[in-house]
Amino acid sequence: MIRVALVGQGLVALHFEVGLEKLRHNMISDYGVPLRNWLPYKYSDIEVVVSYDVDESKVGKTIYELAKKYYDSPGEIPGTLKDIVVKRGIHLNSLKGLPFKARGREEVEGYDSAVWSIIDEWKSLDVDVVVNVMTTEPVEPVGGLLELHERFKEGDLTASQTYAYMAAIYSSKYKSAAFINCIPSPLANDQAYVDLYRESRGVLFGDDGSTGATPLTTDLLEHLYERNRRVIDIAQFNIGGNTDFLSLSLPERNVMKKITKSAMVSDILGYEAPNYIRPTGYLEPLGDKKFVAMIIEYYSFGEFKDELYIAWRVNDSPALAGLLVDLVRLGKIALDRQHYGTVYEVNAFYMKKPGPPGSRVISKYKAFQELLKWIGVRDPRY
Ligand SMILES: NC(=O)c1ccc[n+]([C@@H]2O[C@H](COP(=O)([O-])OP(=O)(O)OC[C@H]3O[C@@H](n4cnc5c(N)ncnc54)[C@H](O)[C@@H]3O)[C@@H](O)[C@H]2O)c1
Repeated sequence: MIRVALVGQGLVALHFEVGLEKLRHNMISDYGVPLRNWLPYKYSDIEVVVSYDVDESKVGKTIYELAKKYYDSPGEIPGTLKDIVVKRGIHLNSLKGLPFKARGREEVEGYDSAVWSIIDEWKSLDVDVVVNVMTTEPVEPVGGLLELHERFKEGDLTASQTYAYMAAIYSSKYKSAAFINCIPSPLANDQAYVDLYRESRGVLFGDDGSTGATPLTTDLLEHLYERNRRVIDIAQFNIGGNTDFLSLSLPERNVMKKITKSAMVSDILGYEAPNYIRPTGYLEPLGDKKFVAMIIEYYSFGEFKDELYIAWRVNDSPALAGLLVDLVRLGKIALDRQHYGTVYEVNAFYMKKPGPPGSRVISKYKAFQELLKWIGVRDPRY
């Protein structure tokens, strides 16, 4: 079994929990799960055992109750989701400035007790993988291990940094674990964390799940590069109506996405092309089905100018939830192989800004081939 803890009981977590339960019981197909049934671990091997949030309207509720309220799709909600209750996590001001009533465990029982009681819960639940899908927060890499230890002791890290540190303690003291960072906080891109995970016999994947327009853009840029078309500029707009977009409307949070999303342009093209790529707006009626528009202008042979137009509606949260079905299994595979630290081949395909620090963004087409090689499976078409 692969026992999963989720951090951030928002829409991505909910689509993962509901979708996984339906997959396990053959109620839906596995579209949107890139590695399908090609891995040694089956869908039925994955079990979500706990979830954490700090929003007072979610803490203490079951996933079933939350799904009844927020899972916007016809069909039955699996009754097994009544067994998972959302527990109070560490807050550390991660929801500051947003219109939610939040309270962290450290505000109830103090920082040290909060941290250790969560690690103890993971121990009693025998957790293998911790998935981070909490609200995007502003954060800088720490850089050095000594400073990281010191700042953890002082409670001077952000919420994601703290959860990731806690999973490393859990790995070194109890059982090797994987931490999957699907948000822009630089963790797999922070040398201090990569070193910490190597020492702790854990594995860290990150940063920022690559769904929607970003992976499509990487493959379009690869296509243009291979045809030696010269990209003049890229304009990409993303407007959505979920709470992720609401939080990204705050400038200090939005800049985190700019960093992870525009990493790809010069890496793939080999030169810098002026670009504007980031979430641009919150429009509530769009809900979770965001609107993406993109224009890429480029020079073709004879220096004639072409333009590529894309207009797209994408169900945002299910896209990342499908990737999580792979990522938790890959986390367990990395641990089985004692591949500690981080794994570039996994990050390059699933993440916008693949760690370790200094790694190149490559097209998703190339990354998929590298990933299959790393796993040791063959694409049945070839
Ligand atoms: N396709 C995608 O949806 C996609 C792609 C890449 C990255 N992401 C990232 O995944 C994250 C989750 O997206 P979402 O749509 O589910 O957002 P969401 O707003 O629905 O959910 C985030 C949840 O995290 C909770 N949270 C905030 N601080 C917390 C803390 N300290 N501890 C525990 N929980 C905390 C919030 O209360 C909320 O319930 C976002 O950071 C987003 O940028 C999403």
